[in-house]
Amino acid sequence: MNDMIAELKKELTSLIEAANDLESLENARVNALGKKGKITAQMKTLGSLDPEARKETGQALNALKDEIAELIARQEKDLKKQALDEQLATETLDISLSARPESKGKIHPISQTMEELVTIFADMGFAVAEGPDIEDDWHNFTALNFPPGHPAREMQDTFFLPDDPDEDGEMAHKLLRTHTSAVQIRHMLNNKPPHRIIVMGRTYRSDYDMTHTPMFHQIEGLVIDKNIHMGHLKGCLLDFAKAFFEVDDLPMRLRPSFFPFTEPSAEVDIGCSRKDGGLKIGAGDDWMEILGCGMVHPNVLKNCGLDPDEYQGFAFGMGIERLAMLKYGVPDLRTFFESDTRWLDHYGFDAADRPNRAFK
Ligand code: PHE
Repeated sequence: MNDMIAELKKELTSLIEAANDLESLENARVNALGKKGKITAQMKTLGSLDPEARKETGQALNALKDEIAELIARQEKDLKKQALDEQLATETLDISLSARPESKGKIHPISQTMEELVTIFADMGFAVAEGPDIEDDWHNFTALNFPPGHPAREMQDTFFLPDDPDEDGEMAHKLLRTHTSAVQIRHMLNNKPPHRIIVMGRTYRSDYDMTHTPMFHQIEGLVIDKNIHMGHLKGCLLDFAKAFFEVDDLPMRLRPSFFPFTEPSAEVDIGCSRKDGGLKIGAGDDWMEILGCGMVHPNVLKNCGLDPDEYQGFAFGMGIERLAMLKYGVPDLRTFFESDTRWLDHYGFDAADRPNRAFK
């Protein structure tokens, strides 16, 4: 009898060990322990044995049953681990692939240009500041040294809004900001010098033609520290313009101009050439205006609680649409805001493109 059990154990063990997947292991289990399995069949013969042999064989069969069940469990665990290892080795997920290889959406040239601007100015150590689109008269004009009733206020075709309380609860003349310069004031009032910020955002003026839309975007720069002079301003703008237009020997000139909040003030031109109705930025026989700038007016510094004898600095402001039009050859400003998908297909950028880091 014991020989029989030993034989059975050998047979079942080799069957189980030979099972190389979960299905054949299940077959081996049914073969050994199932209702019609070999051990079960032996159990059934116990009744015909005499009591002494029944006890002995019964115990041996039970022990065999436990051993076989344990062996199956171990084999199952090994097979599952092996299956998982194989799956992990063969199943790879390439997360660098885009979910849609051919995306239809395009990045708007304004968004693209803004990303390029941040990249360039961040490399120069500028931080990004923000302010509200709905401003009050004080931040947009008065603090920037526009005297009350001064015609310069009309220069900007302001959209006025109904009077409303300002942050301090005082009634204020509200308007849509006409330039990002208002954020200079907010930043200087709320932060300690030195300052080195850019501000990008929407600005509003009541105007509409080939080169004007009632809403457009500006980028503003502000640098305030001790001993800042106009050389820093020119150097900063030259480095910026070379990086942005990707032209190393870009000519630049400053022309005297006027803004109430800067003194002296200048308009900045870069070199270009116009041939056959086309425009090329770079050394040429012509000039193209790109921005307004100047040294921050002492009155503006005073309005922001700074001592002009201790702190000086420069500011500049440019239209982002204008920069995008010059760089990417968009002829009509209004088309930026017409939401024509054919236009966007042509002038837009692939979502996977990164803004170029031309600044060295
Ligand atoms: N705020 C001016 C404008 O909108 C531009 C500017 C900004 C000029 C900063 C000088 C300094 O026209």
